[in-house]
Amino acid sequence: MTDTTTDTALFDLETDSGPELGATGRPLPYLPEPQPPTDGPTRALIIALCNQKGGVGKTTTTINLGAALAETGRRVLLVDFDPQGSLSVGLGVNPHTLDTSIYNLLLTRDHDVHDIITQSVVDGLDVLPANIDLSAAEVQLVSEVAREQTLKRVLAQVRDEYDIILIDCAPSLGLLTVNALTAADRVIMPLECEFFALRGLALLHDTIGKVQDRLNPELQILGILGTMYDARTLHSREVLDTVVQAFDDKVFHTVIRRTIKFPETTVAGEPITTYASTSPGAAAYRMLAREVLHRCPGA
Ligand SMILES: Nc1ncnc2c1ncn2[C@@H]1O[C@H](COP(=O)(O)OP(=O)(O)O)[C@@H](O)[C@H]1O
Ligand SMILES: [Mg+2]
Repeated sequence: MTDTTTDTALFDLETDSGPELGATGRPLPYLPEPQPPTDGPTRALIIALCNQKGGVGKTTTTINLGAALAETGRRVLLVDFDPQGSLSVGLGVNPHTLDTSIYNLLLTRDHDVHDIITQSVVDGLDVLPANIDLSAAEVQLVSEVAREQTLKRVLAQVRDEYDIILIDCAPSLGLLTVNALTAADRVIMPLECEFFALRGLALLHDTIGKVQDRLNPELQILGILGTMYDARTLHSREVLDTVVQAFDDKVFHTVIRRTIKFPETTVAGEPITTYASTSPGAAAYRMLAREVLHRCPGA
């Protein structure tokens, strides 16, 4: 079982029946309301959202965690790093009509990153969009010098303008994802609470280990996030139990439940925090934002 000693100090009010257990089967910690970011020079914390499996909630988490972090007063940049451009679409940017995108920043020096970043409907939440052009970058970057550091160099130009930068990775472990892991300080792995979800985790772990060894020794796993959770099925609970047994306190207490509201937000082109501000899904991503800030003091 998880060692909860670090959590104990965080309990809000312990009742006679003991602290409330969360969906992960561990006592829920008390997480204070996030304070606004401190003034002074900033250097954004860069977090990659990564899982080579598609459809596990990477993009949904990037958008909604980003929006929840922006609500706390942080300046947040979301980087679409998937040629499918789902993050851009989810924030109302039509990727097909873009003349320039992150692709141009990766392959040439002719563009200013500020001209390509666009504001979203949420205050303090900006987007660096992508489209299908990005799929060519995977091939074209191969012959570049220091090809794994390309995204890192692009983000270095805006790092002092944001508190947090989230990178929405493509569903692969190819060169684009290695670029994201090389640029990042932390990685969040969204994991669908479904049977075969655990299968790919060893491979992802392996890739993160190699990037740590060869390219980015600072990289740390920030946490594993259970998504698409359905409390009514034994199956969902079993998967979550197995993940907690394997990864202990790396697993976020926050678990994202399955709800039709999330696909709806994509159509609306806005985060759940504005589309359905008082919904349980919005509350869950606000709680995740608290956990992230708690795990990253100073961000
Ligand atoms: N918690 C959830 N409940 C229900 N549907 C979800 C949830 N999270 C994501 N989805 C939907 O599942 C699909 C895949 O999610 P997405 O975030 O795009 O995954 P990924 O980026 O890992 O491929 C999308 O249609 C999205 O709207
Ligand atoms: Mg995606």
